[in-house]
Amino acid sequence: MSACLVCGADVAPALDLGRMPMSNAFRAPGDSVEEFLFDLRLGHCVDCGMVQLMHRVPADAMFHADYAYFSSTSRGMAAHFRAFGRWLVEEAAPDGAGPIVEIGSNDGILLAPLAEAGETVIGVEPSANVARAATDRGVPTEIAFFGLETARRLRARLGPARAVVGANVTCHVEAIHDYVAGVAHLLAGDGVFVFEDPWLGTIVEQTAVDQIYDEHVFYFAADPLARLAAMHGLELVDALAQPVHGGSMRWVMAPAGRRRPSDRLARVRAREAGLGLRGRQALGASLAAFAGRATAVRDELRATLERLKRKGLSLAGVGATAKSATTLNWARIGPDLLDWISDTTPAKQGRLTPGMRIPVVPQARFVDGPPDAALLLAWNHDREIRQAFAWYAERGGRWITYVPAVRVG
Ligand code: SAH
Ligand code: TYD
Ligand code: ZN
Repeated sequence: MSACLVCGADVAPALDLGRMPMSNAFRAPGDSVEEFLFDLRLGHCVDCGMVQLMHRVPADAMFHADYAYFSSTSRGMAAHFRAFGRWLVEEAAPDGAGPIVEIGSNDGILLAPLAEAGETVIGVEPSANVARAATDRGVPTEIAFFGLETARRLRARLGPARAVVGANVTCHVEAIHDYVAGVAHLLAGDGVFVFEDPWLGTIVEQTAVDQIYDEHVFYFAADPLARLAAMHGLELVDALAQPVHGGSMRWVMAPAGRRRPSDRLARVRAREAGLGLRGRQALGASLAAFAGRATAVRDELRATLERLKRKGLSLAGVGATAKSATTLNWARIGPDLLDWISDTTPAKQGRLTPGMRIPVVPQARFVDGPPDAALLLAWNHDREIRQAFAWYAERGGRWITYVPAVRVG
C-alpha cells in the first residue's frame, strides 16, 4: 500500500506493469550507463478515488535540459492549441487584467499565437531545452517547476493572473498540493484555472493502457479533482471533452463560489458513473476489468507481430511516443520484431527507445523504405498520419493498431 498523494488514505493496487524505464529517456547508441528503472504500478485511493501511480520517478530526473518531447511535432496539435488559446481569451477568461500564465509551456505551442495576438503571457517550464525553443519564438518563459514559490514570485512581479492554464502537465505533478496551492495563490478573484489531461474515462473505455507511464502520475476524473480543488479554496466548475491524446478532458476550476458549476460537468460525472468510475467498489471492479482487457490486448499484440514476422513480413513502428515505452516494454517488443521506429522529433532521432532499445529514425526512412506492416504507436494521431501516408495503404502497406483492440488494416 502507498499513501494517496491527494488525501493520504491507502492506495489499492489495480495494475502492475512491471519494471519500466523512463518513457522519454531515449539513449545514445553507445551509452553504457545503466538504465534507470522503476515499478510502474497503478492504484486507486480507497477514500478520494484518485487513480495514481504507486511509485514515482523524481521530477528532475524526467524534466531537464535534455527533455525529448517537443509539443510542436504534429499539425493537429498546433491547430488544437490555436483553438484552445482563442477559447481561453474569448470564452473562459474574456475580461480581466493580469497575465495568462501557462504551466508546462514546452516549446510555446499554446502561448506563441496568444503572444502574437498581443496578450500578456508567460510560460513556466523546467525543461530548459524546450523552454529555449519557446523564447526563440517570442514567448517569455521562466525556467522553473511551478509551485507555491514560483507562484509567489510571479504574482509579486506581474500581479494576479487572469488565467492559469496547463496542458498535459497537471497530471504529471507528484507535488500536487504545492502546485494547486500555487495556482490558488496566483489567480485573480475572477480568474480561472484551465487544464487538460488524458481522462480516466477514455483510458478505461478505450483500454488505452499505454497512457500509463512515469510522467502520468494521476488519471483524472471529476470527483477526486473536485475534492483536490476544495482543499485549496477552489471549485471544479466545468469539463469539456477534447479529441486530442485519444480523448482528453479540459477541466475548469475557479475560486470557490465565483462560478456556477456547468451542466456539462454534471454530464461528465454521469458518464463517469456509467463507466463505473464513481465510488470505491465500482472503481475497483472497473479497474480490475480494465486490467484484464489490457493484458489480453498486450498478449494479442505480441502474438500478432510474431505471426507476421514468421510469415516473412518486415515490421517497423511509427511515432516514438512516451506511451510506446509502456506498450513495447510491457509486451517485450524489441528490435527482433520492429526494425526501427520513425519519428519527426530531431531530439529522438539517432537514439534508441528506452528499455527495448529500438533505433529511432527520421520519418524520411518510412517514406524511402516503408515496412510491410507498420505499428502505429502514435495511435492518437491516427487520422493525421493515415492521411499523410495515404499512399502507404494504397500500395499494400498494413497499419497495425491496438487501441481499443488489435487490428491489422
Ligand atoms: N503543454 C505541452 C507540453 C506537455 S509535456 C503540451 O501539451 O504539449 C509536459 C511539460 O510539462 C514538459 O515540458 C515538462 O518539462 C513540464 N513540467 C513538468 N512538471 C512541471 C512543473 N511542475 N511545472 C511546470 N512545468 C512542468
Ligand atoms: P504524442 O502524441 O504527444 O505522444 P506521447 O505523449 O505519448 O509522447 O507524441 C507524438 C509523437 O509522434 C512525437 O514524438 C512526434 C511523433 N509523430 C511522428 O513521428 N509523425 C507524425 O506524423 C506525428 C503526427 C507525430
Ligand atoms: Zn485519496
